[in-house]
Amino acid sequence: MAVVSSVTDLIGSTPIVDVSQLSPNPSVKIYAKLEGQNPAGSVKDRIALAMVNAAEASGELTPGKVLIEPSSGNTGIALAMICRTRGYHLKIVLPENVTVERRQVLEAFGAEIIPSPGAEGSNGAVRLAQQLSAENPDWVFLYQYGNEANPTAHYTTTGPEIVADVPEITHFVAGLGTSGTLMGVGTFLNETLPDVKIYAVEPPSGERVEGLRSLDDGYVPPVFEKWGGMEILDGKRIVRPAESLEWTRRLVAETGIFAGISSGAAMAGAAKVAKKIPEGQEAHIVFVVCDGAWKYLSTGAYTDPLDEVVSRLDEVIYF
Ligand SMILES: Cc1ncc(COP(=O)(O)O)c(C=O)c1O
Repeated sequence: MAVVSSVTDLIGSTPIVDVSQLSPNPSVKIYAKLEGQNPAGSVKDRIALAMVNAAEASGELTPGKVLIEPSSGNTGIALAMICRTRGYHLKIVLPENVTVERRQVLEAFGAEIIPSPGAEGSNGAVRLAQQLSAENPDWVFLYQYGNEANPTAHYTTTGPEIVADVPEITHFVAGLGTSGTLMGVGTFLNETLPDVKIYAVEPPSGERVEGLRSLDDGYVPPVFEKWGGMEILDGKRIVRPAESLEWTRRLVAETGIFAGISSGAAMAGAAKVAKKIPEGQEAHIVFVVCDGAWKYLSTGAYTDPLDEVVSRLDEVIYF
């Protein structure tokens, strides 16, 4: 690989691993796209770079400006890395009950942390960031839930990479947070390979799987509505927190992929899709491993008894 001039030049072009040993259906292959290989460790590197580039190009983001963003994890970390390389001051509104690793990573990258009430979760962080940005109109608020650069980054990079590496793809499965991944990749796949089916993975309403949201909980991201929402999707697969943890552990135990918990949810979704495909019918499912496990170690999710981890899910934001 060539020498690059900035760590941000390493964002994207992530590898795909065949994990078909986890497939419950012998005629269905399953592939994991490893977004944890991005330099700040998650799929959010792509959208953070795209949002900063777009704000610079539009003239909204200029040297010396302050940025604010609500994030319980990956987007904040990715923005912190990019702001470090470009000299911007970043304020991250962070629920106070996120894992210690995430706070420390943000601090290492020089971001300022504004705590929001833990009980209000990521929606509380969004509300506080909206309020602060309204009070400080000179701050730049990129707002990943409504920023066009978010799905566009996946439309222009993640989608084409998947088709280049797995041209035989028949199904795409990803978790739904802002919906940027599903809307961007889904739109690209619908245009280039119209037979590919797109599935969102969501937790049941009222239950928590880190990084993901249930649209039935009331908040529908503007990105989802603007990019066609349910028209892009062929269906949803509901995955419960315990299943996410079980599959996260199977990923590391059976394939050596040390992934975050939403990746276990996505793998659980891929397995559910695989099971429904008639036996003997060949299929190729690609799912997204959003990040690595490193930021979640202090939760005990990988080592403590599973029922204890599940019972703690309401106290800690795992993502
Ligand atoms: C760990 C993790 N998994 C899944 C997602 C969902 O991705 P998206 O926001 O593109 O829907 C996110 C982001 O919200 C995430 O950080």
